Amino acid sequence: MVRAERPRPTVPMLRRALLHIQGDIRWQEPLAPLTSLQVGGSADVLVIPSNIEDVVHVVRGARLGKIPLTVLGGTNVVVRDKGIRGIVMSLKALTNIYEEGNQLVYTQAGVRLPRLMQFALGRKLSGMEWAAGIPGTVGGGVAMNAGTRLGEMQNVLKAVDQVTIHGKRKRVEASTLSFMYRKTILPKGIVVGAWLQLATALKGTIQSVTKDYLHYRKTTQPLTMPNAGSVFKNPIGDSAGRLIEAAGLKGLHIGDAEVSTKHANFIVNRGAATAEQVLSLVRKVREQVARKFGVRLQLEWKVIGER
Ligand code: EPU
Repeated sequence: MVRAERPRPTVPMLRRALLHIQGDIRWQEPLAPLTSLQVGGSADVLVIPSNIEDVVHVVRGARLGKIPLTVLGGTNVVVRDKGIRGIVMSLKALTNIYEEGNQLVYTQAGVRLPRLMQFALGRKLSGMEWAAGIPGTVGGGVAMNAGTRLGEMQNVLKAVDQVTIHGKRKRVEASTLSFMYRKTILPKGIVVGAWLQLATALKGTIQSVTKDYLHYRKTTQPLTMPNAGSVFKNPIGDSAGRLIEAAGLKGLHIGDAEVSTKHANFIVNRGAATAEQVLSLVRKVREQVARKFGVRLQLEWKVIGER
């Protein structure tokens, strides 16, 4: 298939699309610092909306100007070295969180999961313990049905607060959505918040489950080095980490991108890795595992940006 190249958006086009924004607007902004893997190029323009009205304006402006719009969560993603054309939006300033009553919590998309867990613990609310050690945001977690073997977003999600592609705010009930392993099928649009149904529990119980699980993750995963979480999804009935280790690939590296020696389904950035090195390493691992075991591993990460 031949894809028609869209012309690169010009600065006046971008400016027009970003009128009325109260939040931060940064031109030619390097994106690596916004990602947990710390690789990748710059955005033509990065917008950090200060409220949901700003998100509505950005969506409408981008749509009117036919400008590509990318939402960057930052923890389960690789940004390519040439960066991202058009508007990149980070929801990191959307950080409101409150309890609506009856153990129902509303949280905006930019709230980080560790903060949500602290909030829940402070109110003796259980349901988010599975997320211990996941550095991502609520928005990213909802969009990909983030989870661990203890549970997943689907278990607590009551409804999603969305801005549609037409720039309208909409509440979408979780009962109308389909959830899969690391995937939520959502109407097209941007997740700006979520209602989570938690349950009352003893503070000590929440704390001990969280502590044990954090300890497990700290001992099995390279959490102190830049990484983007699990590289591949687990194939049914097996584990990507086991397969990669059995293929003898722990420690394999291209430049500063390395298959973690601690957990084989992590790629870590030893300091100055590029996206190109990371993605070459992903290809190499996939080829070797396919050759040795006949299993085609599927990427859990999202790869975005100009090729
Ligand atoms: N294993 C190996 N070698 C390795 C790594 C793992 O043999 O280098 C084996 C382990 O011994 C174990 C099995 O593989 O028998 C599973 O490993 P682990 O318990 O570490 O869990 P995982 O399946 O690799 C999943 C999630 C993680 C989550 C952990 C713990 C996926 C793709 N990953 O990992 O989620 O933290 O369980 O709940 O489902 C993420 O999605 O980004 C993520 C970090």
